[in-house]
Amino acid sequence: MDHLLVRAARGERTERPPVWLMRQAGRHIPEYRELRAEYSFLEAIKTPEVATEITLLPWEYYRPDGLVMFSDILTVLEPLGFSYHIESGVGPVVENPVSGPADVDRSHGNVTQDLDYVGELLRRLARRVGDETALIGFAGGPFTLASYAVAGEPSRTHMPLRRLRARHPDAFRTLLRAFADVTREYLQFQVDSGADVVQLFDTYAGALTPADYREFLLPLHREILADVDAPSIVFVRRMNGRLDLLAESGADVVGLDWTVDMARARDQLDTPVQGNLDPSYLYGDPAFVREQTREVIEKAGPAGHILNLGHGVDRDTPVESVRAFVETAKEYER
Ligand code: CP3
Repeated sequence: MDHLLVRAARGERTERPPVWLMRQAGRHIPEYRELRAEYSFLEAIKTPEVATEITLLPWEYYRPDGLVMFSDILTVLEPLGFSYHIESGVGPVVENPVSGPADVDRSHGNVTQDLDYVGELLRRLARRVGDETALIGFAGGPFTLASYAVAGEPSRTHMPLRRLRARHPDAFRTLLRAFADVTREYLQFQVDSGADVVQLFDTYAGALTPADYREFLLPLHREILADVDAPSIVFVRRMNGRLDLLAESGADVVGLDWTVDMARARDQLDTPVQGNLDPSYLYGDPAFVREQTREVIEKAGPAGHILNLGHGVDRDTPVESVRAFVETAKEYER
């Protein structure tokens, strides 16, 4: 039988909402922090044995309906010739960022070969828990990846990439295209390796004007998702007021951040949705978490809803709150 999460992604009515959390395998779990004292982030994601163990931590804690592979959206930087690492206190750093408009025409290496550690991770997970929970693969979207590639570090405003768009639109287009081509191949590779569902994280793309989003990015989202052979979810932050642009991506499911009112989103969209509890609510007490979670579930209604947060779990979130969140979904009765 199909996983609950897959059924909700197809828009079916489910006996309760399936639940998982973005960033569920990260720093809020004590054993994750212990493992990270032993391995650098890149060592952890490139060693399938370690990445498997980390992916399974939330399984042991919460038994969610989906397990998101422990990896990062930045893995595709390497096949395109960029080197990167995660710097403590800073975030992702690209050591050789795009040096100018002439430096965007990237031919890529063999994606499935370069990223075979991700394929191996999914194959291991499929063997371990593939029957019990849905495996979620993911990739970054072109805007979000290009923001790191151009700025070389996290940028709150994404000004370096937006400046490239203003001054050198052809270079901007070429760079987004390079990421789209890799991502398309990469997501299908994940499905072939065992992912039941895939999520496209173009987290920062809400920084574009609606016109630029439509012109430069939407056709690429459509291409990336068009023939991936599994249900897909698209997630972009700060899209409240233009959710139609997400629905037009062709994704099966539209991810909602916490600034979107769930009931209004349901009126505006025909697609299944995912979300959208405010991650900061997990700093409240368990009774508050349960009450607010039930409100999201009720506003979303019985068909085509995947319960999640409106963005990733914050690093100091109490395990008890995450447990209350997951249990609220698992105990919910229509
Ligand atoms: O549990 C999961 O969701 C699984 C894996 C996952 C990670 N990153 C693990 C990770 C996923 C799906 C991502 C996506 C990701 N990575 C996005 C898109 C979604 C989002 O959260 O906005 C982005 C923009 C990135 C880039 C990136 N990598 C960031 C912003 C960071 C955090 C930097 C920091 O210092 O907090 C990373 C590193 C990273 N990726 C960590 C984890 C668990 C933290 C690494 C550590 O310090 O141990």
